[in-house]
Amino acid sequence: MKSTDTNSSREQFQQKHGIVGSSIEIEEIVNVIQQVAPTDITVLITGESGTGKEVAALAIHAASKRSKKPMVTVNCGAIPEGIIESELFGHEKGSFTGASDTRKGYFELADGGTIFLDEIGELPPSTQVKFLRILENGEFMRVGSPLARKVDVRVIAATNKDLESEVRAKRFRADLFYRLRSVNMRIPPLRERREDIPALFEKFARDYAAANNIVFGGITDEAMDVFLNYYWPGNVRELRNVAESMLVIGNGRKLTAEDVQKYLKGFQVHNEERNLPVFVPKNPDIPERELIYRALVDLKNEITELRSLVLDSINGNGERHGSPVMRSAAGHGHLSLEDMERTMIIESLEKYAGNRRSAAQALKISERTLYRKIKEYGLQ
Ligand SMILES: Nc1ncnc2c1ncn2[C@@H]1O[C@H](COP(=O)(O)OP(=O)(O)O)[C@@H](O)[C@H]1O
Ligand SMILES: [Mg+2]
Repeated sequence: MKSTDTNSSREQFQQKHGIVGSSIEIEEIVNVIQQVAPTDITVLITGESGTGKEVAALAIHAASKRSKKPMVTVNCGAIPEGIIESELFGHEKGSFTGASDTRKGYFELADGGTIFLDEIGELPPSTQVKFLRILENGEFMRVGSPLARKVDVRVIAATNKDLESEVRAKRFRADLFYRLRSVNMRIPPLRERREDIPALFEKFARDYAAANNIVFGGITDEAMDVFLNYYWPGNVRELRNVAESMLVIGNGRKLTAEDVQKYLKGFQVHNEERNLPVFVPKNPDIPERELIYRALVDLKNEITELRSLVLDSINGNGERHGSPVMRSAAGHGHLSLEDMERTMIIESLEKYAGNRRSAAQALKISERTLYRKIKEYGLQ
């Protein structure tokens, strides 16, 4: 009896806050959300990208006494390092070039409500100190002002990084880490709670069909089996995208295993590799990233070698020799690597219709790095 009551109140809660899933993992997460929501405790939500960290943060805020006030979401990785402090804490007029007026920061805007600091692992060390101070006593200073101000803000932070190893690598302050992790909610990747896949697929398919006035013709059991066995590197977000694309492809008819397999084909190779123990890394994206890095480093070394060869030959003869290609390599040897990077950035921005978050994810760099590179290469 007791557990049925608990179940139904949890189900109601999930329905109210749009949290789909009945795996033990989701049940536990929802329990924690229900426990922490009424308090002001700082919560750290960890999990791979697309697992539902923002969904959880929104539910905590909406179920709290602060729900009438705003939840301000800040993606720490997307704000350039130079302006992050003024964005978070505000600034006084004239405090730096371009500060033409006094501005409130996100913490002040969230006063009385909640601030959701996404990608907290991207916070620069100098800002980490100031953030810790706000966590300890609610105090902060606007950039350019000696005045300590106070805010009443509930902090929820999220990261897809392993903060513990960030601490070991001295990129994240240990004191801040310990302060943050007092309540650590880990949202497991979708592949670790596969039983949630059918309900999530159903929800996304139905929502999309309703919003776009199209018919969802259902899905065969075999097709669902393919989904159930897929690795889902992009987690729930990927499932949502796949569901929406499949609906368009299906054009109203029932989706078959063949439809699904065809659609996921590009990913299946990785999927099989990942099933071999030796290839199963903690972060499924690392091997590809490493390969790209290695290829870039190789390329750079080759260019450096080529450049020194060319320069040697030029200096040795006292005059310029060689083909135009060689000459350009001598002058701009390093450009090839940049060109390649620039092209990759342009291509991903095009692929994701200018969405920087998705482009950065595809490139496996932070949004901040992408932002910087866009500026650097004049791609705006
Ligand atoms: N349990 C869930 N129930 C319903 N939708 C979910 C769930 N988890 C994630 N989503 C959806 O998946 C997408 C990614 O979730 P999000 O919270 O943005 O992930 P993260 O912040 O971890 O990258 C969003 O569209 C979100 O609505
Ligand atoms: Mg997110």
